[in-house]
Amino acid sequence: MPVCPMPVRIDAPGPVTLVPATVTGASRWVTERFHLTTGEDGAPALLATALPRSLLPELTVSPLTRGDTNPLQRVFDGMSPESRRMRFLAATPVMAPHMAVRLADVDHASHGCWVAGLEGEPVGIGRYIRTSDDPAVAEIALEVVDTCQGQGVGRVLLDVIGTAAADAGIASLFWLMDETNRRVRLLAAPLGGRFTRDSGVLEGTTGLPPVAPLDAVRIVRCARAARRRAAERTAA
Ligand SMILES: CC(C)(COP(=O)(O)OP(=O)(O)OC[C@H]1O[C@@H](n2cnc3c(N)ncnc32)[C@H](O)[C@@H]1OP(=O)(O)O)[C@@H](O)C(=O)NCCC(=O)NCCS
Repeated sequence: MPVCPMPVRIDAPGPVTLVPATVTGASRWVTERFHLTTGEDGAPALLATALPRSLLPELTVSPLTRGDTNPLQRVFDGMSPESRRMRFLAATPVMAPHMAVRLADVDHASHGCWVAGLEGEPVGIGRYIRTSDDPAVAEIALEVVDTCQGQGVGRVLLDVIGTAAADAGIASLFWLMDETNRRVRLLAAPLGGRFTRDSGVLEGTTGLPPVAPLDAVRIVRCARAARRRAAERTAA
């Protein structure tokens, strides 16, 4: 597929502006936001509090248990056709069983997936999948149910999966996004990198999100426990 060679700015509010320069953003100042808790399955999980500009009181963020398609289906069910199109870059009316199985096939090393929960309900999914071309690069995907969009859930998930991916040896995130997807552009833009546009799709590789050191320690603790559990399930 031919790719437009001109880098594009992804932090602009309106239509994408072509600029002959690398997109770089100032890193955000981050303060401690995550606390350790225990998930429904007894495994270490995170509690995210004080979400900036959000009406949500707090979120749990837990590593997906290998093979558990239920939260994936519930989040998919909470997304409108337009949100699903933004996520999968094609009309996706249903989550086919083989797709759910593939998306739940996590090892938390090459394929990590975390679930954001609000009052016990899954409301968002963050995922990274190591690319076959370069083991230091992972493709990222985010999805949030429509009723919780614009409340900072995507930002929380990005910070968690970025940190978990770093602990698994990932150095860069690969993004594919619809060019009209303002929220995901705003998430990716501060991470720097170069984006190109082809047929309405922006594609680019960025750095990882900055996370406060104590938060990173807590995220990594959950990620390593999830990796061990996934390996045990495979061995069993
Ligand atoms: C894209 C998506 C994951 C973002 O998650 P979200 O929880 O809705 O987004 P957030 O609330 O974390 O906001 C992300 C950014 O957009 C900004 N934003 C959110 N709502 C906004 C609005 N109504 N107007 C302008 N900016 C807005 C936020 O300020 C934030 O940027 P900041 O952290 O620098 O302030 C979510 O909207 C979604 O699931 N969309 C459909 C599927 C999709 O597009 N997936 C992405 C494929 S990679």
